[in-house]
Amino acid sequence: MSAAPINLAPSPTTPHSLLPGAVRGAVLADVPQLLALMAPFVASGDLLPRSEYDLCRHIKEYLVVEAGEAIVGCGSLKIYSQELAELAALAVHEDCQGTGLGRVVVEALVAEARALGLQKVFALTRKPVFFLRVGFAEADKAEFPLKVWADCARCPRQACCDEVAVARQV
Ligand SMILES: CC(C)(COP(=O)(O)OP(=O)(O)OC[C@H]1O[C@@H](n2cnc3c(N)ncnc32)[C@H](O)[C@@H]1OP(=O)(O)O)[C@@H](O)C(=O)NCCC(=O)NCCS
Repeated sequence: MSAAPINLAPSPTTPHSLLPGAVRGAVLADVPQLLALMAPFVASGDLLPRSEYDLCRHIKEYLVVEAGEAIVGCGSLKIYSQELAELAALAVHEDCQGTGLGRVVVEALVAEARALGLQKVFALTRKPVFFLRVGFAEADKAEFPLKVWADCARCPRQACCDEVAVARQV
């Protein structure tokens, strides 16, 4: 099922902070829209599934991109240590893909990682070319044993994983 179309045209009264591409920290009221935004990409296998409970518990890790009332992009920063965090839950509504929003979310998460004093961010992805375009380089999954322990160990695709590890200094 494809997602509902998004009207990106700002009205003359749209405040600057609500123009397409405005990034802010997620709040609990965003949870239903976050679930809806990620659903098609969970179905396609590009994102891991997340429950409403999981999103509520970890809402402070998430950033969202707004276009008026709609959330058209998101991503999260999952901290593993004083040095390392994972970029996860990266999604842009299909109507808005290819317009630079994915890059906006990545740069916002990297800026947050830098502000926190982290040194490196990584992702496991089926879209490595996107990550290479936004400053990441291919990495070895073995560098991220905590991720493998936390998520890969309970992933149904672990025996036939097609995800590539990518990493970027922050
Ligand atoms: C991957 C995703 C977040 C990219 O978002 P986006 O807004 O379309 O990306 P941008 O427009 O910011 O693109 C930034 C650059 O990456 C490139 N790019 C984007 N998606 C790409 C893809 N699937 N394959 C190759 N390159 C891609 C763009 O051409 C652009 O390159 P340029 O700046 O050199 O011209 C988006 O396609 C998406 O939500 N996909 C489904 C969920 C998903 O796979 N998430 C990643 C899970 S780790």
